[in-house]
Amino acid sequence: MGDNDTPSGSKIPTHVAIIMDGNGRWALSRGLPRLAGHRAGTENLRRIIRACVEFGVKYLTIYAFSTENWGRPREEVDGLMHILENVIDKELAELHKEGVQLRHIGRLEGLDPKIQEKVLNAIELTKNNQRLVLNVAFNYGGRDEIICAVRKMIQDGVRPEEVDEEMVGRYLFTAGVPDPDLIIRTSGELRISNFLIWQAAYSEWYVTPVYWPDFNKDEFRKALDTYAQRDRRFGGLTASVEDNPSHA
Ligand code: IPE
Ligand code: IPE
Ligand code: MG
Repeated sequence: MGDNDTPSGSKIPTHVAIIMDGNGRWALSRGLPRLAGHRAGTENLRRIIRACVEFGVKYLTIYAFSTENWGRPREEVDGLMHILENVIDKELAELHKEGVQLRHIGRLEGLDPKIQEKVLNAIELTKNNQRLVLNVAFNYGGRDEIICAVRKMIQDGVRPEEVDEEMVGRYLFTAGVPDPDLIIRTSGELRISNFLIWQAAYSEWYVTPVYWPDFNKDEFRKALDTYAQRDRRFGGLTASVEDNPSHA
């Protein structure tokens, strides 16, 4: 177990992915409009990015807007688009200074051209940063990602016998990013909601009832401490069982 400041040192996950859920309920519980919850959630994201840098997490993927979120009321969708734009305008310089490399996963062409330009500019500016890779899943759906990959493979004339796990991985939005070691979902829902459905094959899960705007550094540390105690077997056996076959 880690002390009060750092999570269990030896087993920090390389890649953490977060389903940042519960902004709406957080706002509702305070009698505020849902968009106030999204703004509070954005504030919290800043804290968690800092914590990742501090704890030595190398990749952070955040689920910010799903392909299904277009089905929300117009006002909320517009508000979420506005928040994305605002975050890029206000935070980019600071993130760049901190060594954060921004990447986007999802269908960029489905967004407003002005936002597309800002996202591409942020990616270009930060592309050589090495401290933390921040993958923003915006207009992202796991099924959509697989459809895009299959289409591209067909366009490229890939032959059936060439298709293997490594190749599929290269055609996904997450090409070059290791699979998530730990997926965190806030606000208690026990579902994947179309997030990283290929990449999550062997990820560890941590679900907490805490709403995303309240998921602070201490809560994050708890998640990392829990992860450090997990026994990842990938379909094999634990080291201790391998050493003592009589206990298998
Ligand atoms: C997550 O919070 C953020 C997005 C999906 C954009 P929600 O907006 O889903 O909050 P709840 O689940 O309604 O509380
Ligand atoms: C998942 O949360 C998407 C994001 C966090 C961006 P949702 O709130 O959209 O998921 P469901 O509808 O509860 O499954
Ligand atoms: Mg939700």
